[in-house]
Amino acid sequence: MLSKKMETALNEQIVREFAAEQLYLSMASWCETNKLPGVASFFYRQSREEREHMLKLVRYINKTDGVAEVPACKAPQKAFKSLLETMELSLAGERAVSKAINALVDMSLTIKDYQSFNFLQWYVSEQHEEEALFTDVIDMIKLFSKDEKGLFFLDREIPKIGQNSDQIEKV
Ligand code: FEO
Repeated sequence: MLSKKMETALNEQIVREFAAEQLYLSMASWCETNKLPGVASFFYRQSREEREHMLKLVRYINKTDGVAEVPACKAPQKAFKSLLETMELSLAGERAVSKAINALVDMSLTIKDYQSFNFLQWYVSEQHEEEALFTDVIDMIKLFSKDEKGLFFLDREIPKIGQNSDQIEKV
């Protein structure tokens, strides 16, 4: 059974995952309308993954005698200066989510909620993967985005990065 404190904190995490889903969807749409169809598919995939992260939380809360709350949608940023900016914002967002997950893990130990501690381990690993993924993409962009040919190459190669992480458990 979830404590009220953990239920509230996990519901707050639903809001963060939902915001990430919406931001990646917005980035996908921006890429698609700025001649970057490959990177658009990368961000559509990231958006789907964030939705799955959110749904995992919804199901866990509801199955642990809590009540999951579906948050309102705040419009995400819709225009970006460059491909690099989309990835830098993504990495900053992932780092913020990692910090929030770590705080949840801390809380679970403090209140001796070992079920939630166990549940949250999946998110700890996932955050590690996502931070590494965006770091790799940013390094690639810094190396190759100097001209049109480089952008063409990046648009083809970025969707291949982290493809295996798409095979996450369905909720
Ligand atoms: Fe689910 Fe990328 O935070």
